[in-house]
Formats: sequence, structure tokens, C-alpha cells
Amino acid sequence: MQYGIMFEDINHSGDGGIYAELVRNRAFQGNSIFPSKISPWTAVGSAQLSLQNLSQPLSAALPTSLRVTASKGTAGIANPGFWGIDVKVQKYTGSFWVKGKYDGSFTASLQSTITNETYGSVKVRSQATDREWREHKYTLVPQKAGERTNNTLVITYDASATNGHLDFNLISLFPPTYKNRPNGMRIDIMEALKALNPKFLRMPGGNNLEGNDPPYYWKWNETLGPLKDRLGYPGTWSYENTNGLGLVEYLNWCTDLGMEPVLAVWAGFYLDGPAIPESALQPYIDDALNELEFIMGDVSTPYGAMRAKLGYPKPWTIKYVEVGNEDNLGGGGTTYNAYRFQAFYDAIKAKYPHMKVFASTTDFKFAETEDAGEDYHHYSRPDFFVGQFNYFDNFTTGQKIMIGEYATVQPNVPQGGDTDWAKGRLPFPTWIGTVGEAVFLLGAERNADKVWGSAYAPLLQNLDAYQWTPDLISFTADTDKTVLSTSYHMLQLFGSNPLSKTLPVINATFDPVYYVAGLSENRNSYVLKYAIYNTTSSSSSSSSTSVPMRTTFQGVRRGAKAQLTVLEGPGNDGNAAGLAFNDIGKDIVRKTVKTLTAGRDGMFEW
Ligand code: AHR
Repeated sequence: MQYGIMFEDINHSGDGGIYAELVRNRAFQGNSIFPSKISPWTAVGSAQLSLQNLSQPLSAALPTSLRVTASKGTAGIANPGFWGIDVKVQKYTGSFWVKGKYDGSFTASLQSTITNETYGSVKVRSQATDREWREHKYTLVPQKAGERTNNTLVITYDASATNGHLDFNLISLFPPTYKNRPNGMRIDIMEALKALNPKFLRMPGGNNLEGNDPPYYWKWNETLGPLKDRLGYPGTWSYENTNGLGLVEYLNWCTDLGMEPVLAVWAGFYLDGPAIPESALQPYIDDALNELEFIMGDVSTPYGAMRAKLGYPKPWTIKYVEVGNEDNLGGGGTTYNAYRFQAFYDAIKAKYPHMKVFASTTDFKFAETEDAGEDYHHYSRPDFFVGQFNYFDNFTTGQKIMIGEYATVQPNVPQGGDTDWAKGRLPFPTWIGTVGEAVFLLGAERNADKVWGSAYAPLLQNLDAYQWTPDLISFTADTDKTVLSTSYHMLQLFGSNPLSKTLPVINATFDPVYYVAGLSENRNSYVLKYAIYNTTSSSSSSSSTSVPMRTTFQGVRRGAKAQLTVLEGPGNDGNAAGLAFNDIGKDIVRKTVKTLTAGRDGMFEW
């Protein structure tokens, strides 16, 4: 469980990110925080666009629709996607709902916005009527790939065969998805995540779980079922979430990548706002229990039956539940300590005694005998993380801590110290920051009896619309140009060499080399993981001084073979510079792999 991932919809990591939907603002979702809007849709031909709240909406969840007014010629709508659409010669699966009288055909096409060239189109026979909403489904295979991603989805029709307008809603288009799941995930990003060998997914947040102010927080039951029944959610990261990537999609994600779900439940505290008083907390505790029953209950339970009705009779298992997110912040800490954590904990443990239920802060210090844990978050500087190498050494509790979020967000400063948020942030992970994180993680691995897992945050960044840097993986609409950061490479190396047991190390001294030794029982091999943090050369981007290494594993004899994998990079440079600096594709991390042979006394030297 040592290396996992953490996900929340930030930086358009969900909508416009790993969730493969290509159409932005597909259902005109809105609320008092982010009112429904037409943008980025544009009119085609003589059409005029307006938003309508019809007396007969598509659904209670999607009350607003787009009216296209036109009475002659070809009219329609165009959508530029999430800052582009990657057009390839592959099968796209689309659908849209229409209300209004139209006797004719629609044309759905993928076109270049630069040259107007049509890469592919399909005719869709109209089923439309003014009596009710009708869904239109189609598939589209372009004959040609777009050279760039400045492309749009265009839907047109013959306006002279209408009564002067048509109403549209839930206009969707998916490329092929990971494992071909309907309403599924973007393949390149899923493959990048799979290569990390992540053992768990902490979801759905982060701050995005909490919501900023009442009444909005991440409500599990609004993320379920057919897309037409999903309300939008004003996420905490300044954009509307479609909820297309919902609870079931998270669980499928876990299944597809073999990850353990680590579920965060809302703990009665809004990021900017009030805490639910003790006297009013019970309905929210009940709601968390309902959520767990929805995931795990058999079909004879009310929420298990609800899951089965949605097409998932087989339950999932939840072993880890986190109560809230960073409840120590913003005034929420007082009420958390006084009653909220305990109330959720007691109720969940009463029903699921074997579940690990943990706090979203490290304010609590649970004794060895107590069956609860903590979540440690830290965003800092390379030197600071190196200083944290022995942070967990003196913790007394066993298997109680997860590192739910961490990242190097600022460069070193001569006076040292922790983060100063007023000083801005790195635009992307740098190699020195990555090595600092590696030292910190090695410290956690040395204490794997106390620290059960860690996850870098944030995970994903859409380079066309983001709120937080640095991030682990950066991307655009172009699926061939996803940028894997320096920290990604380190985590891939660490995560794909898991230790099932740590081993004692004799003559252990640290600095500039930090390490952990262990056993990989699955592979029947020893593993030594190390990081060299050479601070004397850390401020220069030239390569560091070489450090001779040697190690002996007890019982290993002369002639035994080992595989040595080394990652190196220039200290202050990073990868996700990508689009921002026009050098996308350049990877500053150099990887070498070689075979070592044990010499006298079974010693490996390199
Ligand atoms: O990872 C970005 C944010 O940092 C998370 O949403 C929050 O938990 C933390 O403060």
C-alpha cells in the first residue's frame, strides 16, 4: 500500500482531464455559484443561441437547455471541447437530446477551426418531436486525423424543416476509453497512472470534497446513474463539475488499475464555512453510512438494491474511510476534535468493525491501542523534505498514518525553512524537489510499520486551465503530449519496486545518501532504494559530484546478480515545463539500467 494516488477535480483533472468526455458544458449545468452559460458553444449558420428553462426540461437534474433559433438554411451549434479536441482515425461515440419538431437529418462532424476542414461526419436521422425529449446516438470515424487539436464538434440541421427552433441538451462525445468503459476514462492518462503501479486511490478530495459554502459539498448520490440524472456541482476549484465522473466511475477506476479505494466522506465542514453543529450532525452521519451501504451492501439492503438497479449488483469493498479533508483548517478543527470525528468514527465502526477509519488531520495522536489513524499533508521545499527523513522515526503508533498529500512547491531558500505561500510556487516539479520528496518517502518506507501509504498531490493538470502548480502529470487535449514530471519518474521507480518487508541496516549513516532496504517477497529478491541529495551542488543545474556506493546483503554470495536502476537530472530543471515553455516532449530525467555482479563477500559496488 506504500504508493497510491490522490484524486480530486482540480486543474480540470476530471472534467477536461481523465474523464474522457470531449464536449465542454455539455448540459448547461449551473447554480447560484456558477450560473448556467452558453459558452463555449457558438452558433453555426443563421442560428441564434439562448438558454431556456422549459416547463418540460430534459430532467429534474438538467433543467436548462440550449435553444437554437433559425428558420432557414443550415443551422447548428459548435463546441471546441476542453480547449481542443484530439481528432484521430478512431471511433467516437456521441449522443445528444433534442426537443422540437424536425423532419430531416442532423449532421455531426469533427472540423478544424483553423482551416474548416471536415475530418469526419455522420448523418443522424432525426427522431425529434415537440412532445418530448428524444435522445440521438451516433458513432463517427474520421477519415483523417487532425494535425493539431484546434478542432470542434459541429452539429447542424436543415432549419427550414423545423418550426423555427430546436432545444438541445446533454450533447456528448467520447473517444475510445480505457478498457472501453462507457462514460469512461482517457486512455493515455490511465496508462500513465497504471505505470505508477498505484496501490490505492484516495478520493474524492481534497478540498473538492468539502465544498466552499452551504449547501454545496460533494454529494455522492448526485453523481450516480444516467448522465441526464446527474446534477452539476460547483466544485471548490472555480468551475462547475459535471459529476459525470462520479462515485461508480471512481470505483471502476480502482477495479481497472487494481487499486484499493480510500474513500473520503463529508464530515460536516465547508472549506470556507460553518461546521454542522453536533445537534444537527446525525443526517450527515447517516448519509455516510448510506454511501457505504451503496458501495458494499448486498442487494437486499435499500442502498445495495439501488446500486444493483444502476447495473452493479456486485458490491465493492471499502477498507479505508477518511472523515473529511484537512478538518484542522479554517476553524473546522475545533468542532472536529470536539465531536465530529468521533461521531462519524463511532457510527462507521459500529457497522463495519474491521474498517480503518481515520482522521483528516494529524492533530489527533492515537495511541497504539486505539484503532484510528491520521492523514498527514505537507507542501514544502526540497531541504525541508530532506529534514523530514526521520520525521516518523519517533512516532509510537503502529500503521496509523497515511501521507495523503505532499509535494515540493517552492525552491530552497538560503535561510531554509518551510513553505511561505506568499512567495508563489514552482510551475512544475523540479529534479531537486523530486529528490527531496524521495528522501522524505524513504523515511516513510523505513517506518512502514507506522505509515501505510503516501500520495503526491495534486495528481493532474490541464495546462489550458489550472488552479494549482506543481502537479504530477500535465496534459492538454492532445493525447500524444502528456507530460510526466520528474516526481512521476521517481514514484514510478519507487512504486514498481515495492517492499513487502523492511530489513534492518547495519552501520546506517545518512546524508548525502538516504535509503531503505527490504525484501520483495513476490519477486524473491532484496531491494535497496536510495536517494542522493547533495546539497552542495543543489543550486547549480550542472550534474552533481559522484558518490561511490557499495552494499552487502546478508546471505548473498559472490557472483550474485543485481539490477541497478538510476534516475538523474539537473537540479533546478523540471519536466512539466512542457507547453508553457514550448519544449513539450523533452524529458530531463535520464534513466540508466545496468546489471551488477556481487564481488568478494557478496558486495555490490557502483
Ligand atoms: O492538493 C491541493 C489541495 O491542497 C487539496 O485540495 C487540499 O486538501 C490541500 O490543501
